[in-house]
Amino acid sequence: MVEQRKVCVVTGSSSGIGAATVRLFATNGWNVVVNYSREAAPAEAVASECRALGVDALVVRADIAADADCRRLAALVEARFGRADVLVNNAGTTKFVAAQDLDGLDAEDFQRIYAVNVIGAFQMVRALAPLLGREPGAAIVNVSSIASLMGTGSSLAYMASKGALNALTIGLARSLGPAIRVNAIAPGLVETPWLQKGLGAERYAATVQGYRARAALDAVIAPEDVAEAAWFLGVKATKTTGEVLLLDAGLRLTRG
Ligand SMILES: NC(=O)c1ccc[n+]([C@@H]2O[C@H](COP(=O)([O-])OP(=O)(O)OC[C@H]3O[C@@H](n4cnc5c(N)ncnc54)[C@H](OP(=O)(O)O)[C@@H]3O)[C@@H](O)[C@H]2O)c1
Repeated sequence: MVEQRKVCVVTGSSSGIGAATVRLFATNGWNVVVNYSREAAPAEAVASECRALGVDALVVRADIAADADCRRLAALVEARFGRADVLVNNAGTTKFVAAQDLDGLDAEDFQRIYAVNVIGAFQMVRALAPLLGREPGAAIVNVSSIASLMGTGSSLAYMASKGALNALTIGLARSLGPAIRVNAIAPGLVETPWLQKGLGAERYAATVQGYRARAALDAVIAPEDVAEAAWFLGVKATKTTGEVLLLDAGLRLTRG
């Protein structure tokens, strides 16, 4: 019998960290699920790159803030592959508001950000857990942020949402063990369209420069670095669960 390829589902994988993660799993011979909520063309392009590596790639449009979308995504994964081994909850959203500007955020901002960053991740776990639970060694990796640990980042609502995601990670590690491991990665500044769009070219360049100047390793993070951490936590770290891995090029060693 031909051995079945393992399957990795990555939310928000048409760009940035998510795209690098599906590419890495595909490079290692895994079938992948590419998810997005708005623009189909970039997702199709990432899927084509993965197929060129010899694996199968399923593209699913699904807004993870909508539970029905999460359940439909899980059903499509089961229909196409009959299995899921690793879920990377990567899709996220924010609002760029200076931390001093308390009036720049309202309840709706918090609710919109939590709907994706916290509830979306939970809904994806709930939808996919039955499939994951059937595979020995299954794992979930949540993409959090250094913002949750340092109190820096695009807004207070974003920091709080990623803090909630860390707590969810630890709680789910208890709920889903021993069948499914659950860990998180908390990256520092990652070079993706996220910050480039959010800050604009000039502020982005200054932010990268400032980050590098403060980080002990004089570096920012590449999407591929986060993908490697997702591979480690998702596949290799078989005795690690409930962990939040800081991936910041040594920023926290300095005074911020
Ligand atoms: N970049 C950084 O410096 C940094 C640092 C720490 C943590 N992070 C975290 O890393 C994750 C990925 O960020 P990135 O920098 O790679 O961003 P990115 O390049 O902007 O990619 C975001 C991806 O998420 C998808 N997406 C957004 N909302 C979605 C939703 N509701 N449902 C499904 N997909 C959705 C986007 O596609 P559509 O627009 O088509 O939906 C896209 O594929 C986020 O959770 C972010 O908080 C980023």
